[in-house]
Amino acid sequence: MSNIVIIGTQWGDEGKGKIVDLLAEYADIVVRFQGGNNAGHTMVVNGEKFISHLIPSGILQQKMCLIGNGMVVDPDVLIEEINYLREKGIYIGAGNLRISERANVIMPYHKAIDIARELRIGDKKIGTTGRGIGPCYEDKVARRGIRFSELSDPDEFAEKVRAISDEKNFYLKQYLGAEPVNADLLIEQYLSFAERLMPHVCNVSVVLDNAMKAGKQVLFEGAQGTHLDIDHGTYPYVTSSNTVSGNACCGSGVGPKDIHGVMGIVKAYTTRVGAGPFPAELFDEIGDKIQKKGAEFGATTGRKRRCGWLDMVMLKNSVRLNGLTSLAITKLDVLGELDEIRICTAYEYQGKRIDVFPTSLKVLAQCKPIYETLPGWSQDISELKTYEALPQNVRNYLIRIEELSQTPIHIVSVGPGRDETIVLNNPF
Ligand code: GDP
Ligand code: IMO
Ligand code: MG
Repeated sequence: MSNIVIIGTQWGDEGKGKIVDLLAEYADIVVRFQGGNNAGHTMVVNGEKFISHLIPSGILQQKMCLIGNGMVVDPDVLIEEINYLREKGIYIGAGNLRISERANVIMPYHKAIDIARELRIGDKKIGTTGRGIGPCYEDKVARRGIRFSELSDPDEFAEKVRAISDEKNFYLKQYLGAEPVNADLLIEQYLSFAERLMPHVCNVSVVLDNAMKAGKQVLFEGAQGTHLDIDHGTYPYVTSSNTVSGNACCGSGVGPKDIHGVMGIVKAYTTRVGAGPFPAELFDEIGDKIQKKGAEFGATTGRKRRCGWLDMVMLKNSVRLNGLTSLAITKLDVLGELDEIRICTAYEYQGKRIDVFPTSLKVLAQCKPIYETLPGWSQDISELKTYEALPQNVRNYLIRIEELSQTPIHIVSVGPGRDETIVLNNPF
């Protein structure tokens, strides 16, 4: 029996959804443990594209999908997503989608505050997804959040929302100059969401414990990426949750002894949506080419993603922070038809070479990438099904990533489709 965590190693959008969907075939349960609908996970099966923001990417394989206590959930978006997937023929019921009673609920004032704050700070904005993620986590930590379990008591819920709305409206109107929320309307709307979602609400930790005792295998699906982690990422240009593997336990209610492997998803180059320093960023025609060929637009907000070379300072940071036991390299096909491929192996800062990811953003912003250059390949590799069939220059790139990261590559992805994948070693 094994339970595996899947983690993004960069700044999100590494292709986690695709790999989770692929590996879900071997799991009984897929659980998300942090984040909310700031995530956008894409799966392509038989040419059909699916994007999930909240529901774990195991749903297409019809596995038991769990929304862990570490998540922040917008019930409106969740209902919309259930409807969207059902319209696409995916069965979703209380038996295969469960929501932790401890997960925090994203309220309309969270979204309003997120958007108004970003507008107010202008140039210094984080570039959030505007989904209310940060303000919801703030309330959780401030012990005034609303959890799913509280939706089962309408009177208590209404009383709490009225009190909180007073405070939020003061802040929205007086400080942010934004529209206040209507507490009565909000209460009515959320109680109708509750009616729809309560059959899914349960103690996810107990579900996982029972399943693991019965020998079931669990896949923990990370969202965002290691460098968006609230503690370990490029603070303050980060999201508001811990995205690293350690939070798989905390955010779902299992102990560390139940985790047997951590696979890091690595895009063959680097992308970032939103603001913040990015040492290996490309501002030339190669960056444009990668952006276009890789169709690098955010799955949640549609924003153009910034592109750059693979950064080993970041990847080594991820190996350490997550205890990665294997890597999956995605979007390798996108690097085809380039004369040369570069890998950033260290940074130069004030004339000195550094290879540990700096904490200070001021330092990071001044870091210049030190590159190693490898020959590219001209062949389209998206049809290839085995490692042996890959051109030697592709294999050299992969071997170098393994050497520099000291972590074995277990999966190579050469296209968005579930079947456009070379599995060298199945983690289950
Ligand atoms: P996630 O947030 O980590 O799940 O990643 P996203 O879904 O936001 O972004 C990854 C994008 O790359 C999606 O459009 C995927 O369909 C696509 N993708 C995933 N793997 C590959 C690959 O190996 N090659 C290509 N060309 N596209 C891929
Ligand atoms: P997936 O799971 C890429 C980024 C936002 C912004 C910062 C804070 O699809 O990889 P937030 O709304 O979370 O407060 O925004 O984090 N961000 C992501 N970038 N992929 C994601 O998720 C992201 N989720 C948040 O762009 O820079
Ligand atoms: Mg994404």
